[in-house]
Amino acid sequence: MDLEQLEQKAKESILLIKELQGLEKWRIQYLGRKSPLSLFFNSLSKLSLEERKRQGEKANKIRSFLTNLYTNKKTELEKGFFPSVKGSSSLLDITQPGHKKAQGHLHPLTLVSREMIASFEKMGFSIIEGPEIETEYYNFDALNIPADHPAREMWDTLWIKQKTKIQKSKTLLRTHTSPMQVRYMEKNQPPFRIIVPGRCFRYEATDASHEIQFYQIEGLMVGEDVNLSNFKAIISEIIKDIFKQKVSVRFRPSFFPFVSPGVEVDIKQEMQGGQSTDKWLEIMGAGMVHPDLFKRVGYENNRWQGFAFGLGIERVAMIKYKINDIRLFFNPDIRFLEQF
Ligand code: FA5
Repeated sequence: MDLEQLEQKAKESILLIKELQGLEKWRIQYLGRKSPLSLFFNSLSKLSLEERKRQGEKANKIRSFLTNLYTNKKTELEKGFFPSVKGSSSLLDITQPGHKKAQGHLHPLTLVSREMIASFEKMGFSIIEGPEIETEYYNFDALNIPADHPAREMWDTLWIKQKTKIQKSKTLLRTHTSPMQVRYMEKNQPPFRIIVPGRCFRYEATDASHEIQFYQIEGLMVGEDVNLSNFKAIISEIIKDIFKQKVSVRFRPSFFPFVSPGVEVDIKQEMQGGQSTDKWLEIMGAGMVHPDLFKRVGYENNRWQGFAFGLGIERVAMIKYKINDIRLFFNPDIRFLEQF
C-alpha cells in the first residue's frame, strides 16, 4: 500500500468535513482498527528487521500526522465554526431556526405630531422651531402677561437659576410655545402661516390630563384679512384629517392676554351609533392676535390681522388612541408602547 497516497487522500478529505459525525467516519476510515494504516502495521511482522524498522518509522510518522489532523479538526468543530450535532459542545448551532429581531415602535406622541405636522403642511404652514429655555421677556412680557400675572409664580414656572446678576433677563423652561409668535414676527413680515411644535414645561401637580412636561403646536397665521372663521375652518379640517372619523369640536370664549377675542377648543369623540363618549377635552387655546403684539414688533398700524393657537399634542393623542391618563406617555412600560 502506498502510504504517501493514503496520507494525501486523508488530508484532502478532512478539509471537506463540516460536522463531528463526518469526522468520526473519517477517523474510522483512516485510523480505525480496520483502516489500511492499522492493517499495514499488522503486516510489518512479516518483514525483515531492518525493513520493519524503516517502514514502521514511516507509518508511525503518518499515524501521528493523521492523529494531529483529527484532534485539530475536532477542536475546530466543537468550537462551533460549523453546525453542531448531538453531543457536541458547540455554542453556535446554525441548524437552529433564527431568532426574529423585534422591531421598534414609534411613540404615540411622535405618531400624532408627525401626522399633525403633515396635515398643517398640506395647508401651506411652514414649520419653525424655538428654544426650550426662554427669556422672561418672550415667555411673558412680550405677550402682555404682566409681572403680577399668576402664571409667573413659582407654582407654574420652572425658573432657571441665574449665574450672575448682570444677566439681562431671567430665564425659564418655556411654559408654552407662544413666545415664538413675537420672536418670529420680529424677523418676518406678513403674510405668513407657521406652526411651532415643541416641548413645554410647567411646575404643576400632575393628574390624568396634566403633566409637568408636554408638547404643544403653536400656530400663527397673519395676513390682511385673516379672521376667526378661517381659524375654525382650518382647525376643523385638521381634526377631520387626524381622526378620520366623527369628532365633535366646540369653541368656547376664553381669555389669554395676547389675543382678543380669545377662545378655547374642546373635542369629543363620537361613538359608532352617533352617541358621544365621555367628556369634552380641552385641546387648545386660541384667538385673534392682540394689536399690542403687532405694535411691539413694529408692524404697520392697522394693516395686519391674524389668529394664533396653542394646541396640546398629548390631549389629541389621548382622544385618538383612547388613552385615559396622560401620565402613560412618559411611562416606560413596554406593554403600553407596543400597542402603537
Ligand atoms: C396656552 O399655553 C396658550 N399659550 C395657548 C394660546 C396660544 C392661546 C395662542 C392663544 C393663542 P393653555 O395653558 O390653555 O394655553 O395650554 C394650551 C393647551 O396646552 C391646553 O389646551 C392643553 O391641551 C395643553 N396643556 C396645557 N397644560 C398642560 C399640561 N400640564 N399637561 C398637558 N397638556 C397641557
